[in-house]
Amino acid sequence: MSKYESYIESNKDQMLEELIDLLKIPSISADPAYKGDVEKTAQVVANHLISAGADNVTVEETPGYPVVYGEKMVSPDAPTVLVYGHYDVQPPDPIELWDSPPFEPVIKKTDLHPEGAIFARGACDDKGQFFMHVKAFESMMQNGGSPVNVKFMIEGEEEVGSANLGWYVARNREKLACDVILISDTGMIGPDTPSITTGLRGLSYVEVKVTGPNRDLHSGLYGGAVANPINILSKMIGSLHDENNHITVEGFYDKVQDVSDEERAGMAKAPFSEEAYKKALDLSDTWGEKGYSTIERASIRPTLDVNGIWGGYTGEGAKTVIASWAKAKISMRLVPDQDPNEITDIFLKHFTKIAPSSVKVEVTPHHGGEPYVTGIDHPGYRAAATAMKASFGKDAIPMRSGGSIPILSLFERELGAKSILMGFGLDSDAIHSPNEHYGVRNYFMGIKTIPLWFEAYAEEMKG
Ligand code: BES
Ligand code: MN
Ligand code: MN
Repeated sequence: MSKYESYIESNKDQMLEELIDLLKIPSISADPAYKGDVEKTAQVVANHLISAGADNVTVEETPGYPVVYGEKMVSPDAPTVLVYGHYDVQPPDPIELWDSPPFEPVIKKTDLHPEGAIFARGACDDKGQFFMHVKAFESMMQNGGSPVNVKFMIEGEEEVGSANLGWYVARNREKLACDVILISDTGMIGPDTPSITTGLRGLSYVEVKVTGPNRDLHSGLYGGAVANPINILSKMIGSLHDENNHITVEGFYDKVQDVSDEERAGMAKAPFSEEAYKKALDLSDTWGEKGYSTIERASIRPTLDVNGIWGGYTGEGAKTVIASWAKAKISMRLVPDQDPNEITDIFLKHFTKIAPSSVKVEVTPHHGGEPYVTGIDHPGYRAAATAMKASFGKDAIPMRSGGSIPILSLFERELGAKSILMGFGLDSDAIHSPNEHYGVRNYFMGIKTIPLWFEAYAEEMKG
C-alpha cells in the first residue's frame, strides 16, 4: 500500500461527490448556448486546484474558452511534469437515448463495472479523468508533497479541435516549460488488463457539397433527365472504398508507415474477443480493410468515414422532389506519417475528379490533426509501466488507439516534450455517445496510480 492510499481511502466519498458536482455543469464547448457554463466550469476547476494545494492558479483568457493553469514548483533542479486535460465535453445528443439525464450524474452497476459507474456526459471524457490528477495531486500534497515540479494546463476547447490552445501555448512557452506531459484522456484494454497508449491517430475532416439543378425540382417532371445530387453523392461516397475495403483516394496510403511484424504480433496477443465485440454492438459481423484484424483496423490503419449526410426531403410522409444539393461530413483518421493537410488536399483533388460533369462539387476542410506516437523507451512511459504494474499487479500492454488528441504534436513542437498517455477509461464507456459512463473503480485506480507514476518518474530521472 502506498503512503497515499490510506488518504485516498478515507476521502473516497468526498472525491466522488466533487466529481459528481463537476459533472453537473454542462460545459459543452460546441454549443454557444452553454458559454456561461463552460466559463463557470473553468472557475470551478481553478478552485479545486487551489484547494488541492496548487500555487499561482489562474483562469487564463484566450480568444476562445479559458485555460486553467496551476503549479507546484518544488525545486528548480527537479524535473517538471505538465498535466494536460480538458474540462469541456461533447454535446449530449441524441438526448432521448440517455437512460438518465446527461448532466444529472447517477451511479449504476454494469457488467464491466460491477462496483458501479458514474453515468454523465464527460464522466470519462475527460472530466473524470483529468479530475483524477487533481485528486492524486491533493493526495501527494497531503502526504509529504510531490517528488517533482507539477504544472496543470486544463483546457476548455479540446472537443472543438483545441482552436486556441496553440495560441496560448505559443505565448506561454516559458511558463509551460516541462520535461514530459502526462495525460489521462485515453483508455485501457479491460478493467483488469492495464495498457498504456503509445499512439493516436491523426485526423482530416472535410465537408462536401454536391450541387445539381439551381432549385428543388418535381421528381416526375425532371426525374431521369437531370443529375440527382443525392444519388450522385451516394455513388461518389460508395466509390471511396474498393471490394477489399481499401480506400481508393489516389495517394492516400503513400506515407502510411508499415507496423513491424513484431508490433503486430504484440497486438495480436492483447486479450480481445471478436465475439464479445460483436455482441456488445449487436453486429453479426465486423467490417474493415482486408488483411488486418479488428484491433489493427481501429488503431494502426487509416480510415475514411461519413459522419453525417443530408439533403432533400426528410420530413413526414412522401414529397416527390429532386433536391438541388446534397452534403456530407467526412472524417479520415490518419496514422504515422500521413500529413493531415496533404490528405485533405489529395481528397479534394480525388473527390473533384470523380464527380460527373452534371454536378458541381465543393470541399470545405475543417480542423485536422497529426497522428502521434510515444516510444516505450521514454522515462515517462517506463514510469507509467512501473506505476500500472504496482497498482494492477500485471504488466501493462503498450497499445495504439484509434482516437485523436490533435494538439499533442503542437506540444512537442512548442515545448519539446513528449506526451505520456496513461488513461483509465474503457472503449465501452460510451464516450461521445448516449449513456457515457466511467467506472468508480477506474476513477480510484487512477487516483492511486498517478502518485506512483510521479514517484517512478522521479526515480527514472535520477538516472
Ligand atoms: N479523449 C478523446 C480522444 C481519445 C479517446 C483517444 C479514447 C483515445 C481513446 C478526445 O476528447 C476526442 O474526442 N478527440 C476527438 C478529436 C477532436 C478533434 C474532436 C476524436 O478523437 O474524435
Ligand atoms: Mn478527451
Ligand atoms: Mn472527446
